[in-house]
Amino acid sequence: MANMPAPSIPNLLTLRGSRGGSGTRGRIRGRGGAQSSATTAPTPSHDTIIQGTDTDAAISRMSAVDLGYLDDPYARFFIQAPAVGAAVRRLPIINREGQERQIVSLGAGTDTRVFRLFQRGNQHKLIYHEVDFPTVTDKKHHVVRSTAAMSTVLPKPEAIAETHTWRDETLPGGSQYWCHGLDLRDLSKPDATPLSGLRTDIPTLLISECCLCYLEVADASKVMKHFTDRVPHLSVVLYEPIHPHDPFGRQMVSNLAARHIRMPTLEDYADISKQEARLRDAGFDTAHSLTIERIWEDWVSPEEKERVDGLEGLDEVEEWNLLAGHYSVSWGWREINLDGWRIGPG
Ligand SMILES: C[S@@+](CC[C@H](N)C(=O)[O-])C[C@H]1O[C@@H](n2cnc3c(N)ncnc32)[C@H](O)[C@@H]1O
Repeated sequence: MANMPAPSIPNLLTLRGSRGGSGTRGRIRGRGGAQSSATTAPTPSHDTIIQGTDTDAAISRMSAVDLGYLDDPYARFFIQAPAVGAAVRRLPIINREGQERQIVSLGAGTDTRVFRLFQRGNQHKLIYHEVDFPTVTDKKHHVVRSTAAMSTVLPKPEAIAETHTWRDETLPGGSQYWCHGLDLRDLSKPDATPLSGLRTDIPTLLISECCLCYLEVADASKVMKHFTDRVPHLSVVLYEPIHPHDPFGRQMVSNLAARHIRMPTLEDYADISKQEARLRDAGFDTAHSLTIERIWEDWVSPEEKERVDGLEGLDEVEEWNLLAGHYSVSWGWREINLDGWRIGPG
């Protein structure tokens, strides 16, 4: 994927390697997806279940590393027990040039992109924010403080008193990392306090990798509005399942329901045209959306395809295509002139 001609994106590459008898039909793996394992234990709260989707993501990330899809020395620190799982590979989202930049990752969970970005060193000042529930950010703080390899990247991960937010403002070149422990729905309120340390004067990329899909549609829109209202130079990338109405999609939804997981936005943004319209409605002048299937076919270089295929081989081409056709990456940006003023409509 390093040779991709387009910006690197999160994707389902490692599902290409799924082998064995169970197949993948209707199963969303690794991002809170459906696995048909209903439990008889007492049902935890929906928020707790949603937080558990990050455990799926962490296991998937580890599996991707183990299989050679992803080079991520940090993934293993977030795995508490030996785990077997199929995989999802994520890659850094953007390249940076010449000036200060900011990334805000909603529902970042145990994502390790930030460590890889800062480990590589940035020529440019990067302000990186992650947001997740307090239980998730507290755990991340603990793992970072107690893991030498991560403390090297974030040497001063200091908590902000009486909050579940922690940050390191001592990174090379003036870069900063902020990890905000809060319920995103708090940002959907009209009087919401902006994230501490959020810059509103620099180019900012808002990311949601399978996070906003767990919010009610109105809340998800208001969370995006929280940022579009405050940050003029804003772009966005959303990674979400789509097509809940065809047989594979119906199975996906039913598998999620078996785990007491709902994705309220799935109905409203059921295909790539609706995802694009959603971004335009949110005020992004340019909006695009593609399925992972399409991105794999059109954006991934032949060399990278060959490399990935060589890792495990691919037994289930049809299932891969079905699954990859049920995930979308949508992205948009606002037109800004050199003075930082919007030149697009709205
Ligand atoms: C499927 S995981 C994805 C984690 C990460 N983005 C990744 O791709 O590895 C979804 C994440 O969204 C978080 N999340 C969902 N709803 C949230 C909310 N209302 N407030 C904060 N975080 C939320 C969950 O706790 C979880 O960590």
